[in-house]
Amino acid sequence: MAIREILEVPDPRLKIVSSPVEANEFNDELKTLVEDMFETMYAAPGIGLAAIQVGVPKRLLVIDLQREDPDADPIKDEDGTERQPVKSDPRVFVNPVILNPADELSTYQEGCLSIPEIYADIDRPSTCTVRYQDLEGETHEEPLEGLMATCLQHEMDHLEGIVFIDHLSRLKRSMALKKLKKMRAAA
Ligand code: NI
Repeated sequence: MAIREILEVPDPRLKIVSSPVEANEFNDELKTLVEDMFETMYAAPGIGLAAIQVGVPKRLLVIDLQREDPDADPIKDEDGTERQPVKSDPRVFVNPVILNPADELSTYQEGCLSIPEIYADIDRPSTCTVRYQDLEGETHEEPLEGLMATCLQHEMDHLEGIVFIDHLSRLKRSMALKKLKKMRAAA
């Protein structure tokens, strides 16, 4: 496994429309890419990553919401505060397609590993169904809601060359890009 470089805006590769993973590409190379994507995402840290974010223009994404596990014993941080351990739930979606997105929208504050330190409220359909293939090429359909629905839609945007700030007004987007530039200059 290896950590790969995450592309950041305004890298033009983030605007590429990714191509399907073909039937003959469900192989060890694909599995290695997925392992690397998880390692890269966990190290960042983040909860979702599309292949194009590591420079591979294929319709493939990984998600692990790493939610708190209510059944686990709390762990103590160095400063004595208690928190719930997170439960790992690594998910792989190959050639995902969104079916029947809800008319109802929900709003989440989104961020993106390709746009570090920038966050904004984005409205998206609150539920949808995803049809996707697993690493063996088997097709599945799964209804999604809550953060999982939002996260999947955010990652699917990457496959179309869209990042979350593209959903903002022109003014808000340019403010976000200015902030990013400023932070980079300060770093
Ligand atoms: Ni993103």
